[in-house]
Amino acid sequence: MLNNIFWYLTGAAALLWLLNKLRVRLQLSRAKHRSLTGHSKMARRFARLVPFYEYDEARFFDADAAPPHVAAQRRAGFMRLAAYFADHFQKTAALTGDIVDAISDLQFTSRYRVPFQFSRVVREHFKTGAFLESSSGVTVTDLDGNRFYDLTGSYGVNVFGYDFYKECIERGSARVQGLGPVLGAYHPVIASNVKRLLDISGMDEISFHMSGTEAVMQAVQLARYHTRRSHLVRFCGAYHGWWADVQPGVGNPLPVQNTYTLKDMDDASLQVLRTRKDIACVLVNPLQALHPNAAAPGDSTLVDSGRNAHFDRPGYTRWLEQLRKVCSERGIVLIFDEVFVGFRLARGGAQEYFGVRADLVTYGKTVAGGLPVGVLCGKRQFMRRFREDRPADVCFARGTFNSHPYVMGAMAEFLERLDSDAIKSVYHDLDTVWDARARSLNERLIEAELPVRVVNLSSIWTIRYVKPCRYNWMFQYYLRSAGLALSWVGTGRLIFSLNYSDADFAQVADLIVSAARAMHADGWWWADPALTNKSIKRRVLREMVQARSFSPLGSMSSPRIK
Ligand SMILES: Cc1ncc(COP(=O)(O)O)c(C=O)c1O
Repeated sequence: MLNNIFWYLTGAAALLWLLNKLRVRLQLSRAKHRSLTGHSKMARRFARLVPFYEYDEARFFDADAAPPHVAAQRRAGFMRLAAYFADHFQKTAALTGDIVDAISDLQFTSRYRVPFQFSRVVREHFKTGAFLESSSGVTVTDLDGNRFYDLTGSYGVNVFGYDFYKECIERGSARVQGLGPVLGAYHPVIASNVKRLLDISGMDEISFHMSGTEAVMQAVQLARYHTRRSHLVRFCGAYHGWWADVQPGVGNPLPVQNTYTLKDMDDASLQVLRTRKDIACVLVNPLQALHPNAAAPGDSTLVDSGRNAHFDRPGYTRWLEQLRKVCSERGIVLIFDEVFVGFRLARGGAQEYFGVRADLVTYGKTVAGGLPVGVLCGKRQFMRRFREDRPADVCFARGTFNSHPYVMGAMAEFLERLDSDAIKSVYHDLDTVWDARARSLNERLIEAELPVRVVNLSSIWTIRYVKPCRYNWMFQYYLRSAGLALSWVGTGRLIFSLNYSDADFAQVADLIVSAARAMHADGWWWADPALTNKSIKRRVLREMVQARSFSPLGSMSSPRIK
């Protein structure tokens, strides 16, 4: 009898345990975004299945089943543009061609500027140069003497204009010249850098690193150390550098064990934070406010016109407030990764802009006045790398070049200038200025009946396409030939420096409108009732299945689709 009761109770306890496990697992599933971006493992598996195939020159122009006269119009436009590239970018393209086989980064970027089916033909005709000779004001000049308005923002580093950074580097170098490249000991400029950064971030302690990636690594490592918990939470689509734990999906050859990728701006994610006991920290990249749950937009994934973006400042502020509350309640470390948006949205970065304070904040990119850096600022209880009561239980952080005198010198110049009247006036009315610029450009695009719109988070912009089309990625070549410098993600991200005057911007707006008109005139945005984003996706999927039947699993063969 007793025996039976024992077994009954054990069984009931096991069942309860199992049900609870199931409930917690279901909660986690509900908090995952339904896209592949939200499912890292599945995304990696899917990526391995996508077969290579490409369009030959005949198919290139009617991959959307456009009629022959439209294909001919496109071909003529394409060849005219290609001739322009060949003529105008000769020296820049030649030097790029000389070294491309020796630089893996260049091979990668040149391959992934457009969807892979179109890549070879585009590469053959548009030799995009990798070199620039000089920069000045809001422009850059290539080896052929072509001047472009810079919309690359140097990956976001260029907040105040290239001349500003040249000065920071020059004067900063002069300040530390006496010590030179001595490492380990600090140059005295660090003392003022620390004070200023603590004031800006509202934090207690600081550590210097060589890149944004390392600052994020250190933040997560410290959160794990202090909470003694294993997992970090990142939000679907957010970029936090290229360290494995923050890049669990495509791009990382190994599966990641200790990362949860949850839906951005969703109650189901808050529920996970409220209930799981293994979460050390939540990593937030406030840039996602522009496109929650989507990866950084690049033209190589512009298969159709499904790219979406919309910045809802009150909505995202509410979301950050909710995260702050649940993290405080659950002893989870809230990390703002401001490597991109810090100093761009406001002097005090996203914390000031959204009015929400984090436990740890990372900065990078611009903060060293144009030199490479990562910075972590945090509350004292999370920054300590040792425990008073457990002397052997320490948390390591290393880096030969951390706190390099030249970096610190340029940073000192940068931080001092932040408090100048000139920079204060740049921050004043920032959103009003950039929102008005985006609005006026959109009005012009609408009036001209062009299927292009811009969406912005302050000075960070992306281009949306409002009619179903397979060729939106061509727009980057029209923009380049119009005199606009874009980064390799093309129209996915345009980053303006804050020294763009109204006159500069008016020029850029004119060029964007005229480039869109030219692309329209060349027939790329041909419309047909049967052509929808859905039909485009279905067609591409069919092509992939067809290509896979030519190409057995693992084969490197590359059937051309005719
Ligand atoms: C939000 C964010 N975090 C981290 C990083 C990584 O910084 P770095 O490229 O300096 O390693 C980046 C870079 O783009 C970033 O945008």
